[in-house]
Amino acid sequence: MRVLVVENYDEMSKKAASMVASQVILKPDSILGLATGDTPLGLYKELIRLYREQLVSFKEVKSFNLDEYLGLSKDNEQSYHYYMMENLFKHIDMNLENINIPDGMAENIEEECIRYEKKIAEACGIDMQVLGIGTNGHIGFNEPDIKFEAETHLVNLDEETIEVNSRFFQSIGEVPTQALSMGIKTIMHSKKVILLAYGIGKADAIAKTIRGKITPDLPASILQLHRDVTIIMDKAAASKL
Ligand code: PGA
Repeated sequence: MRVLVVENYDEMSKKAASMVASQVILKPDSILGLATGDTPLGLYKELIRLYREQLVSFKEVKSFNLDEYLGLSKDNEQSYHYYMMENLFKHIDMNLENINIPDGMAENIEEECIRYEKKIAEACGIDMQVLGIGTNGHIGFNEPDIKFEAETHLVNLDEETIEVNSRFFQSIGEVPTQALSMGIKTIMHSKKVILLAYGIGKADAIAKTIRGKITPDLPASILQLHRDVTIIMDKAAASKL
C-alpha cells in the first residue's frame, strides 16, 4: 500500500486527478471504476478542469460505477446516475454509451447484477478504480459482514450508512435501504486502486484499513492484499495511524 498524507481536501483531489489523468493519457481507452459521495467531488472538478485545458480527453474511456440505490430512477436527484452526470459526465467528452452504472430500477435485480458483472468482464476488468470509504469501512456498498461478497450483488444498507447518507435526503425515511454494489472480487481485480479519505470521521476506518486485521467486518481491510493501492488522505483522516 502506498500511503500519501496531504495537507487538505484540495491537495488530495489534485493528486488523485493527476493519477487518473495520467492513466488516461497513457492509455486513452482506459476502463475507470468510479465512486460517488462527497469525497470524489474535488477529483471530478479537477478532471473537468484538465479536460477544459485540453490536457486530457475521455473520448475512448469506459467507466463502471461502484453502486446505485435500489428503486431510484436515473433522473432522481439522489441517484448515483444523476450525481455522475451532474458532477462529471456532462462536463467532459465521455461517450455516454461507455458509461456503466448498475440499474437500480431493473425489473430483475439478480439478472441486472449478472449483466453488470459480465459487462465488466467483457471490458477485461478495470484499469483504475477510485474508492471512497465509509465511516464503517465499506467500499462501494460492501458493508461490514461475516463474509466478503465477490460479485455485483444486492445489499441491505447498514444503519450507519443510511444515517450518514441521510444528509443528502429530506428525511432519513427517504434513504433507500438497499442498493446494488460491485463486489469485492471485482474491486480486487482492478489493476490499480486509489482510495481517498478526508476528515476526522474517516480516521478510525482508515487506521483499521491500513493497520488492522483483514476482515469482512471492515471491508476496506482486504485492500492490504491488493498489489497496487494508493491511499490519499488529509491529515485529519490520517490522525489515528
Ligand atoms: P463520502 O462517502 O465520500 O460521502 O464520505 C464515502 C463512502 O461512503 O464510500
